[in-house]
Amino acid sequence: MNEAVTVVIPRTRPTAEGHCEALGGDTETEGARAGGWPRQHECPWYTDVAAGLPAPTTTSSKSVVRGGAMSFTHRYLLPLLAHAWPLLLSTGLALLLAMLLMRRRRRHDDTRGQETTRAAAKRVIDLGGVGDKEEEDDTSDMVSPLHREDVPHVPFEHTRMTVEESQRRAEEFYHLMNQRRSLRFFSHDPVPRRLVETLVRTAGTAPSGAHTEPWSFVAVSDAEIKEQIRAIVEDEEEINYTKRMGKQWVKDLKAFKTTWTKEYLTEAPWVLLIFKQPYTPLPDGRKINHYYHEISTALSCGILLAAIQNAGLVTLTSTPLNCGPALRTLLTRPAHEKLLLLLPLGYPAKGATVPGISRKPLHEILDTM
Ligand SMILES: Cc1cc2nc3c(=O)[nH]c(=O)nc-3n(C[C@H](O)[C@H](O)[C@H](O)COP(=O)(O)O)c2cc1C
Repeated sequence: MNEAVTVVIPRTRPTAEGHCEALGGDTETEGARAGGWPRQHECPWYTDVAAGLPAPTTTSSKSVVRGGAMSFTHRYLLPLLAHAWPLLLSTGLALLLAMLLMRRRRRHDDTRGQETTRAAAKRVIDLGGVGDKEEEDDTSDMVSPLHREDVPHVPFEHTRMTVEESQRRAEEFYHLMNQRRSLRFFSHDPVPRRLVETLVRTAGTAPSGAHTEPWSFVAVSDAEIKEQIRAIVEDEEEINYTKRMGKQWVKDLKAFKTTWTKEYLTEAPWVLLIFKQPYTPLPDGRKINHYYHEISTALSCGILLAAIQNAGLVTLTSTPLNCGPALRTLLTRPAHEKLLLLLPLGYPAKGATVPGISRKPLHEILDTM
């Protein structure tokens, strides 16, 4: 069935010779005149003329209704294509080019994302810490720790024990530490602030490279801040588990039944966040270098874990991947500090369970010669 279509007649008309002829001075027709008049098949109404229909003799653009899809094609589409093909072609090519560039960019981003993930995972495995994707600190203007060279050396206080006493105490301590477990279920029972202070004071006794003491501890008991910490950690951990960590890592964690839900962050009365400080910024812009800041802070954390165990409390050594910057901002810590560990601290929940794992025997971890 033919459809009625509306076409705009340009300011031209057919000639007896079958050419199109300009009727006015409109730019398009003037352009056509300059390049010679269009041939019959290019003329918008040639089909009508050929079919014996009266050709329009209008001298201005106007709308007319004509029957037939054929005449629409010849009147409207073909002339449009004849005039506009360079524009259409270049637009099409530009679109195609844009699509190709976008696809390449997407692929590049995906690869970069994977690389960043792999790099973050590698950093976690190699160095510990939370593997945050942060810029490495600028190490220019680094100065050595500013200790006085003439620092006085004082007598060392030491009480010598008998070997038997040492053995007894060592075994006692071993049994105490062998009961230490990473807890993921906490009771709401409170822990006094003074006790937390003593534990952190003990952690601060750790040795550090050139005595730089490159650590800071943030102890949070405020329920609202703990909620915010939990929200940050759970959001990131969901991405860690589903995207960043990879199948093998997630599989390795199956035995521990860990997920990205971290109830303990709001259940435990305290959450301790331990930051390492790669340097101390000086007011004049220089930085005091903290040699071995990572190892030093980790040693301090080890002593903290022992102190927690000794005090009859429990904790979980946790390293929430990629949460460092957000947690640092939440806790208003300076930019040069990097989160190393996050420890919920308190008492175990009633009926709490732990994975039934065992430790390597001595002969596997000790070589004496
Ligand atoms: C550096 C380090 C990072 C850890 N990170 C996490 C963690 O992010 N989440 C978690 O549930 N446990 C974490 N753990 C706890 C270990 O899974 C746990 O220490 C191990 O399974 C041995 O169990 P145990 O501590 O009860 O002896 C971490 C432990 C260490 C030493």
